[in-house]
Amino acid sequence: MRLQKFIAECGVASRRSAEKIIESGRVTVNGEIVDYMGCTIDPDIDEVCVDGNVLRVENKKYYIMLNKPKNYVTTVSDDLGRPTVMHLVSDINARIYPVGRLDFDTTGLLIMTNDGDFANILTHPKHIVDKAYIARIDKPLDEKALETLRKGIELDGVMTAPARAENIKRPKRGFEVKITIHEGRNRQVRRMLEAVGVNVMSLKRISVGSLTLGNLPEGKWRALSDAEINKLRGKGK
Ligand code: URA
Repeated sequence: MRLQKFIAECGVASRRSAEKIIESGRVTVNGEIVDYMGCTIDPDIDEVCVDGNVLRVENKKYYIMLNKPKNYVTTVSDDLGRPTVMHLVSDINARIYPVGRLDFDTTGLLIMTNDGDFANILTHPKHIVDKAYIARIDKPLDEKALETLRKGIELDGVMTAPARAENIKRPKRGFEVKITIHEGRNRQVRRMLEAVGVNVMSLKRISVGSLTLGNLPEGKWRALSDAEINKLRGKGK
């Protein structure tokens, strides 16, 4: 079995993140550092460690959604000591991790799992998984700005893929736009909206693929149903 697949199956990280962990020299196989791709191991024979901890395959798989509040980082640990989303799922006795990332100040739907293959389906660029956001903005977007967002915007010299964008009419809540993208570039929605001249006051993710946040309270998590998991998995086929 490939080393990165084994690390993902042990619930440490998604397969792609496992590759980064390997490259950073944190992995040993039978006591030797392996910091290159292409190593295969036999889980019954070889001893694999990450940061000195021996890995064992976790058999029970967890699939949950969290409604992430503001002011939490979407990482397993944080060098600056800020609260991480792990604090909100500490009642789950398994090494789950976030699938993808939401900014510190973004709220909403975050999937977490210890199933590396599942995380890979949702994060690999070859699988197009739509993610929808509601942004509260300081003024409404005119048709020209909406059309610009839909066609794509140049960020760091590279065009964003076409997006869906529509104003939402809920007069008591100020101005809101719903924007749906499938890429995951750094602060992408915020930067796209800033590029068409509006300020983002808050940003919330309301869906990932077929999965919607519904009325899950902020800071709470719930297990996904088998039907929800299978629908999301279908994205990879
Ligand atoms: N786009 C952003 O700007 N921020 C997020 O957290 C997610 C998407």
